[in-house]
Amino acid sequence: MTILLTGGAGFIGSNVAKQLLLENHRVICLDNLDDYYNPDTKWKNVQRTLSDPGYHFHEGDIRDAELVDTLFQTYGFDAVIHLAARAGVRPSVQNPALYFDVNVNGTMTLLQAMQRWNVHKMVFASSSSVYGDSPNVPFDESDTADRPLSPYAASKRAAELVCHTFHHLYGFDIFCLRFFTVFGPYQRPEMAISQFTDSLLNDTAIQVFGDGSTARDYTYVDDIVRGIILSLENLNGYEVLNIGGSDPISLADLIQLIEQAVGQNAQINRLPMQPGDVQQTYANIRKAQQLIGYQPSVRVEEGIRRFVEWYRASQEAGLVTN
Ligand SMILES: NC(=O)c1ccc[n+]([C@@H]2O[C@H](COP(=O)([O-])OP(=O)(O)OC[C@H]3O[C@@H](n4cnc5c(N)ncnc54)[C@H](O)[C@@H]3O)[C@@H](O)[C@H]2O)c1
Repeated sequence: MTILLTGGAGFIGSNVAKQLLLENHRVICLDNLDDYYNPDTKWKNVQRTLSDPGYHFHEGDIRDAELVDTLFQTYGFDAVIHLAARAGVRPSVQNPALYFDVNVNGTMTLLQAMQRWNVHKMVFASSSSVYGDSPNVPFDESDTADRPLSPYAASKRAAELVCHTFHHLYGFDIFCLRFFTVFGPYQRPEMAISQFTDSLLNDTAIQVFGDGSTARDYTYVDDIVRGIILSLENLNGYEVLNIGGSDPISLADLIQLIEQAVGQNAQINRLPMQPGDVQQTYANIRKAQQLIGYQPSVRVEEGIRRFVEWYRASQEAGLVTN
């Protein structure tokens, strides 16, 4: 398949690109290397696959309809894997308009290009944050998910709805995958696991928001990549699917796992809960198991061990740019 991969220079996207190329797909990556975190890190991610003849990189914005049209015309895509977004819950509280512009209008630009160029398949990266503080735990795709707590979460839910409209009007096959806190090699540097690991390795204090009781359903990036590819292969109609580890742990337990993997105790600087943060996330993955045969394979303990090993090696090789 020839696939348009938006956001392919990012954490999840660069891991997806690597796997798609291994499976002999052609990958055209569109990413504007935005400044949400250091663009050098993204450029290093791109370099993991740049020499592969099946990989093409275009630096540009998903909101640039002319550029998007040119790419559709040039490559004749079979499908779109749409990961480009302003990610991150807390910064969205400061800049809601930007989050809506990129995450909703950007998605609309791609859907319109699909309509013009007769491309009918999309896998869209949604988020567990759409559930807000839902009392129905574990979170199920049949929940209404109409009480998002941050502009980021609202923008992802809005984009899911726009995807449904295009499915209804034009018969597109679209899977909206709700990822649950993703971690692993090439992780975004501002995410908690990266920050904590970096602080422990460099003997500085970690910043912990809240009393440590918040819980997250951490999902190893290889399992997310598998969920995306399985969706692409089994795509039919419009579906919303949870892709999670389905095994949540508290923030306090997460810190302990990182301490064990690094072999160093954390110095904790405790701060209040942040606006927009939810108390817990927990994926019910029965639907993904049934529809695409998704099964998480890396438990959080093993994933943290692998991440710390990767982070240590990258730091020693001078590849970490925070
Ligand atoms: N990492 C997680 O825990 C997580 C959880 C749920 C959902 N998601 C979603 O998965 C996707 C990938 O997340 P990630 O963690 O790899 O984030 P990331 O920030 O590493 O990747 C996103 C990429 O999109 C690019 N981008 C941003 N705006 C763009 C634009 N206007 N045009 C083109 N490219 C643009 C960025 O440069 C970046 O490389 C995002 O849609 C995110 O919302 C991630």
